[in-house]
Formats: sequence, structure tokens, C-alpha cells
Amino acid sequence: MQIYKREDILKHKGTVTLLTDRFVLRKFKIDDANEVFCNWASDSDSAKYNACSVHSSVKVTEEYVSEWIDCYKNNNYYHWAVVDNQDDEVIGSISVSNVKNIKKYCEIGYTVTKKRWNQGIATEVLIRVLKFLVDDVGFKTVRAMHDVRNEASGKVMKKAGMVFAKNKTKFFVNGQNFVMKCCVYDYKNTK
Ligand SMILES: CC(C)(COP(=O)(O)OP(=O)(O)OC[C@H]1O[C@@H](n2cnc3c(N)ncnc32)[C@H](O)[C@@H]1OP(=O)(O)O)[C@@H](O)C(=O)NCCC(=O)NCCS
Repeated sequence: MQIYKREDILKHKGTVTLLTDRFVLRKFKIDDANEVFCNWASDSDSAKYNACSVHSSVKVTEEYVSEWIDCYKNNNYYHWAVVDNQDDEVIGSISVSNVKNIKKYCEIGYTVTKKRWNQGIATEVLIRVLKFLVDDVGFKTVRAMHDVRNEASGKVMKKAGMVFAKNKTKFFVNGQNFVMKCCVYDYKNTK
């Protein structure tokens, strides 16, 4: 049997509230569904380079949000609503997937409502969450991938301190069955 020392184990904390200068990152609530739907889930430009489908109605979004809320009972589930601290509007999301406990590896993705693009929001939020995942949870590698055509997302990764690792072709077997050529970036804990 493999024995792990305390420092070998991730210190999962779940989706705890995090703050940046302009935003509160918190768990989703069911009342957020309307803003999630209006601000990005119904928008084809937001979904263009991702493997997610555009929601046809707020009812669909409510089902998703309800599933996310259900997952908060797992302390290795990280999915934040990005809330503007001036007016409490939910303007984006940032989430972690593919958590590997032994490798201390995970992947990260984010979305910002189109009306607020190019205000440095994704960068500000990504920097905060990377710091949390590495310093507080103990991940060694946090990976992000963007479609090669999604240059804005690549800029966000670089501005947040992530380093280009390789190009990769991903196959999504879902309703749309599509192939995505992506750039892979890593954020490494070098401590
Ligand atoms: C990608 C996304 C999250 C960026 O969010 P954002 O808050 O606008 O990002 P930031 O403002 O922090 O940075 C965007 C950068 O991209 C640049 N940019 C914007 N559009 C661009 C384009 N078409 N080509 C090249 N650069 C572009 C901006 O100028 C800015 O760089 P700068 O600070 O050097 O000027 C947002 O466009 C989005 O939500 N898209 C839909 C979902 C998505 O693609 N998520 C990422 C999946 S990998």
C-alpha cells in the first residue's frame, strides 16, 4: 500500500469565496440563472470556441445551475460566479475540471459576458484563482487550453503568468462531435 505524507495530499477547500479589487467570486445560487442565461449561456459568440451548447431558454440554464449547486457538496468542486462588487451582477464564471489528486493537476476555464470584454476581467479573476489553487489547495500544475483562433483567451493566460506548453488537437464527442485545435498553457508551482 502506498503511504502518502501530509504534504503529498491536496488540501481541498471547495468553492470558497474569493475577492479581487473589482469582483467577488462566490458559489452560484439558483437566483443567478437569469443573469447566467442573459449574460453568456444564451450567447453564441461566448460559446463559439468552447465545447458547450447555447441554452435555448432560462429553464435550461436553471437545470445547469441547479446541478452546479448540487456539486458544491464535494470539496474538490471549484466553480465560481464572478460578481461585480459595484452592482452585484453576475458577469462571468471560472471553473476547475479534471482534478488529479496524486499528480496535483487540474484544468481551468472561464467566461466573461460579452458586454464586459476587454476590461481585464478574465485576467484579474484568473490571477486570483490560480493563486488560490496553488497556494491554498496545493496544485502543482494548472492547465488551460484555448482554441487557436481564440486569441483573446491566449492573451489572458499569458497575462496571468501561464506559459505555453504545446499545441493539441481535442476531439469532443457530444451533440456536435467537433475537433478543436488548441494551444495548451500551464501554470506551475515552482516552490
Ligand atoms: C476569452 C475571454 C474570457 C476574455 O475575457 P476578457 O475579460 O475580455 O479578457 P481580458 O480583458 O482580461 O483580456 C483580453 C485580451 O485579449 C485581447 N483581445 C480581445 N479580442 C482579441 C482578438 N480578437 N484578437 C486578439 N486579442 C484580442 C484584449 O485586447 C486583451 O489583451 P490586452 O490586455 O493585451 O489588450 C472572453 O472573451 C470570453 O468570455 N469569451 C467567451 C468564452 C471563452 O472563450 N472562454 C475561454 C475559453 S478557453
